[in-house]
Amino acid sequence: MTSSEEQLSLFQNPTTDSEASAAAQPELIPTDAKIPIPPGTYSAMTEIAQHCNVCHRCGLGETRTHAVVGRGNLQAPIMIIGEAPGQNEDETGLPFVGKAGQLLDKILASVKLDTDNHIYICNVIKCRPPNNRVPTTDEISACKPYLLEQIRLVDPKIILFTGATALKGLTGEKRGITKIRGNWIEWEGRLCMPILHPAYLLRNPSRERGSPKWLMWQDIQAVRAKLDEMQHSRDQGSEGASADLRFRD
Ligand code: URA
Repeated sequence: MTSSEEQLSLFQNPTTDSEASAAAQPELIPTDAKIPIPPGTYSAMTEIAQHCNVCHRCGLGETRTHAVVGRGNLQAPIMIIGEAPGQNEDETGLPFVGKAGQLLDKILASVKLDTDNHIYICNVIKCRPPNNRVPTTDEISACKPYLLEQIRLVDPKIILFTGATALKGLTGEKRGITKIRGNWIEWEGRLCMPILHPAYLLRNPSRERGSPKWLMWQDIQAVRAKLDEMQHSRDQGSEGASADLRFRD
């Protein structure tokens, strides 16, 4: 086995921020996409969760079991944005808990990243599309203000867009995910990297050099290295700041 194969074999193995009472203002309840959700609307993730669970800004509110808002450290330095909840996520109300999510957790663990410390995971849209179809542009637009509020609240140092829907839905990027993955890009003043979607890796099990899994291994190592570099410059810049949760190891 090569060393990258050894690391990939690690890919074989949630905190929730769900409902707590938030003082909902009835006039702000998002029953329609025309009701604005300006930046600064929410002061806590629990308020977003509360609204998402009564949201009817698009038709997906009719068929969801649970809105799927996010899981992980609410002050994480890295935010991962996926496409949409699937069946397991709809049932549990947590993102990335099915097969793709389990693989994602293993990928993260292979470079010692986890949702207790470094990672917050969410999706471009919060409700499951019927039969797991790709979300429409109207659904993405209706849900986008929630995601922008999540980004504002978590304020991550790094954003990873996993898969083409997340990348295109948020940034409008025209280049395909396989072309642009692994490249650092700037979006809204934030450092971001598009990466492949773990479901794509499940459909392509090869570990050969150049395969999707191999590419993911390159990308996640680059992300870990960037985080370490940021931690290092931060520690140099302000003595004793290493207790900061964002950089806890
Ligand atoms: N795929 C996604 O993009 N998101 C999930 O939450 C689960 C699978």
